This record gives sequence, C-alpha cells and structure tokens, in this order.
Amino acid sequence: MAEVTRKIGLSLGADLCWPACYEEIVKRLKLSIPMNGDLLRFAVERVTVEPFDLHQSCPYDVVLDRLTHWFHTSREWIKKAVILDGLYVLNNPWAVQSMEKQTSYCAMMKLGMPIPDTWMIPPKEHPPSADLQLTLDRYAKLFDIAQTGEVLGYPLFMKPYDGGAWIGVTRIENVDQLRQAYEQSGTHIMHLQKAVAPFDLFVRCIGLGPQVYLVKYDPGAPLHDRYKVDFFFTDQDEWSLLTDTTLTINAFFGWEFNSCEVLRRDGVFYPIDFANACPDFQVTSLHYHFPEMVKNMIRWSIFCAATKRKMRQTLDWQPFYEIAAKDLPYRERLAGYAKIARERMEEDRFMEFCHKHLRNLNEVAWEFFGSDLARHFVRAKVASLFPAHEIEQFTGHFWGLIQFWRKTEADRIGLTAEQDQQGGGAGQENRNSGDSAPADSASGDGEVPS
Ligand SMILES: Nc1ncnc2c1ncn2[C@@H]1O[C@H](COP(=O)(O)OP(=O)(O)O)[C@@H](O)[C@H]1O
Ligand SMILES: [Mg+2]
Repeated sequence: MAEVTRKIGLSLGADLCWPACYEEIVKRLKLSIPMNGDLLRFAVERVTVEPFDLHQSCPYDVVLDRLTHWFHTSREWIKKAVILDGLYVLNNPWAVQSMEKQTSYCAMMKLGMPIPDTWMIPPKEHPPSADLQLTLDRYAKLFDIAQTGEVLGYPLFMKPYDGGAWIGVTRIENVDQLRQAYEQSGTHIMHLQKAVAPFDLFVRCIGLGPQVYLVKYDPGAPLHDRYKVDFFFTDQDEWSLLTDTTLTINAFFGWEFNSCEVLRRDGVFYPIDFANACPDFQVTSLHYHFPEMVKNMIRWSIFCAATKRKMRQTLDWQPFYEIAAKDLPYRERLAGYAKIARERMEEDRFMEFCHKHLRNLNEVAWEFFGSDLARHFVRAKVASLFPAHEIEQFTGHFWGLIQFWRKTEADRIGLTAEQDQQGGGAGQENRNSGDSAPADSASGDGEVPS
C-alpha cells in the first residue's frame, strides 16, 4: 500500500482560534485511511500570499477559504487552482464573488421560500462617473421613499443589498427615520425589508457540507452572548424544515460552509440572511457551539480530501427550477430540493466515511478541548478582541462554556464504560440543535436525528 499525503490548505485572514484547534485535532487524530489501494495521511498548512505563475501547480487537494470574499489576490489564486489544478475549495469562489443577498433572495423566492417583502432602492449618492448625470437625467425616476415605506409597513429594515456583518443595517419605525436613514445611506444600494416582528424564535442554521447545526440566537444580546446555549427549541418538523432549507440554499449556491438566519413568526420561518459564505467561526461568538463547528469542519474537509470528490465548478439551477414548477405544496417541493442537495453533498457516502474512518474524532476533540493548549488558543483569541482588563474574565467565560460543552458531550457520546455499552452515537439527536453530524463515536449507530 502506497502512503499518500493529502494536503489541506487554510486560506486565512484574521481567523485565529478555529484554525489552531483544527490543526491540533487533525494532528491528534493520527489519521491513516485506506482508500483505493493507498494509505492516506493528512497534512494541514496555511496558504501564503505571494506572486504566482499561472502555470505553477497547486500543492493542495482541498483549501478551506475564509479570505477571498474581500482579499482578491487569494480569490484569483484559488480560481486559477480550481480550473488548472483540480483544487477543491470551500466555498465556490465564483459564487462568493457574484451572489449577494439580493440574488440569494430572488433565487429562494423563485423556489417558494417565504422571504419577507423586500424592495431595492437606488442609492442616495453615486460615485462620480463620466455618464452619471446624463443617465440620471434621462432615466432616473423621481420617487418618494415614504411611499415604499407605506407599502411595506413599519417596522422595516434598511440594509445593503450585498451586506454582511450588520454594516449599514437600520431598524426603522416610521417615515421620519426612513428619510433620515436614506439621507445617511450614501452610495450604498439599499434594500428596504419588512421586519419579521415580533418574532418568537431566531435560529442560525450553520451548514457544513451535508451537516446542519442549528443554534438559537438573540440579536439583541451583547456580542459574546448572541448564540444561546439552548436545547430542543424546535420540534422535529421545524428542525427538518430548517435543515432542508439550509441544505437547499447551500447546494443551490455552491456554499458548503454557510449560515442561514431564520426568524419564526406565527409558526412560519422567514429566512432573512443566508448569503453568509464566510460565517462567524470565532470562539468568542460560538463558545459552547465552537467545538461542534470545528468537528464538522474536520469531518467534511477530511472527507473531501480523502475521497478526492470533484468540486462542482458551475452551478446548475435547472433541477431546482423543475421542482419549483411542480404543483406541489411548498414542504414537498422543499423536500425535493433538499434531496438534490443531499445527493450533491453525497450525504450517504459522507456518513459512511465518518462512521468508518473518523470514529475517534469525538473522543479526540473532547480530550483536546479540555487541554491547556485549547485554553491557550481561546485566551489568544480573547486577547485579540477584548481590552486588557477583560481578558482573564472573558477567557474564563468562554472556557467555562466549552467545559460545559464537554460535560454535555461526555453524556452524549458515552465516555464512561457504561455509556459506551449503551451506545451514544455522535450528533444524531435533535438536542439543541438537531445537529445532523454523522455518528462517529465508538458505538456510532443511528445517523439521522430522531
Ligand atoms: N426582515 C427582518 N426582520 C427582522 N430582523 C431583521 C430583518 N432584517 C434584518 N434584521 C436584523 O438585522 C440583523 C442584520 O441584518 P442581516 O440581514 O442579517 O444583515 P447582515 O448581512 O449584515 O448580517 C439581523 O441579524 C436581524 O437581527
Ligand atoms: Mg446577518
């Protein structure tokens, strides 16, 4: 058996905590996976930024990219490597480049998702351009923004059509605030969107390949406390709906790591923001949920690297549209979309792979997240964000939540001999969450959430 090393590149900017944990856990896993006559080892390396020859080969099998949505040298290097070297990258760089919130709303409206009523408004100011005045004089219709406000009703949200990170997002209660927000919007092209208000549940659905992890979210809480530690906040039908919704969006756009924000009002889940192809992955936001996200990233990236699964370079929307055109209730159409998504993400093969080759991940991660090194990584992240006098306090806070995760995790995966016997597969219960990660613990049965 030939020994072959698969190389995983991390394309990073400010990310500090997850890459450090990812690298360390992959190292501790000591993977040695037999595949098609080879014995696979895995090496993780950080991708550097430097001049490159378009002819030069790419050393990586898979790149986990967190940079290219704003750092375009890396984006262009990745696009070259996908086309010329067969690189597999999360996420599809062309989809990241071209699909903003606006496109994602339109496409999912076409599939029948209940996107809140949304208008696009021409910008208040335009960057200078030779033909600008002439174009505006000829074609720009005068409008009164108050009329749009009236059509949508209050409260509403004004937010950039291609936004992210809450930049430029304003909640608006009345026409005066609307006019004021528009005056201040400058050259941004804005959406006005009917508020889902009041809502009784806000969920962030974080997809990683075929795995979907749901977290209850409180947008009004301070930054460190927005992701809630809460369990069983949806029923099984809702969990399944949100999972199918997330998989559909992600498969449609070629975003294998993406988060979808949904708000529930009167029993309906409204997706409001799901073009998040570089989702929050900081321990200082995710705390309790952070280890599961690191594990999900490890599972999916090792699967992609080991199996040499082909990256889908172009997006194929037609099969979704064909289901959309059917005269079926929405939930049935959604199940049809999600079926395509699961096939595209090779869910069955992935589950089998994890069950067979990543059985020790739960235990290794559990051990690691109790180590001094893990605490050091958490502290380093806190130190990069918090003022000096809060570093110890918040390190203790996030570390405490991770230790709470270890406690619930120990119960879940059955770390005691007794629990081991009873069998506690990983991630298959709908606990907080409906984490649809595969069963990869020692007993590891029951891969689908109950
Ligand atoms: N239609 C809406 N109804 C209720 N809340 C909204 C709506 N749109 C945005 N928000 C609130 O504003 C926040 C930021 O808006 P979002 O669309 O997520 O923009 P960004 O892409 O910047 O994250 C959301 O997390 C949510 O709390
Ligand atoms: Mg958002």
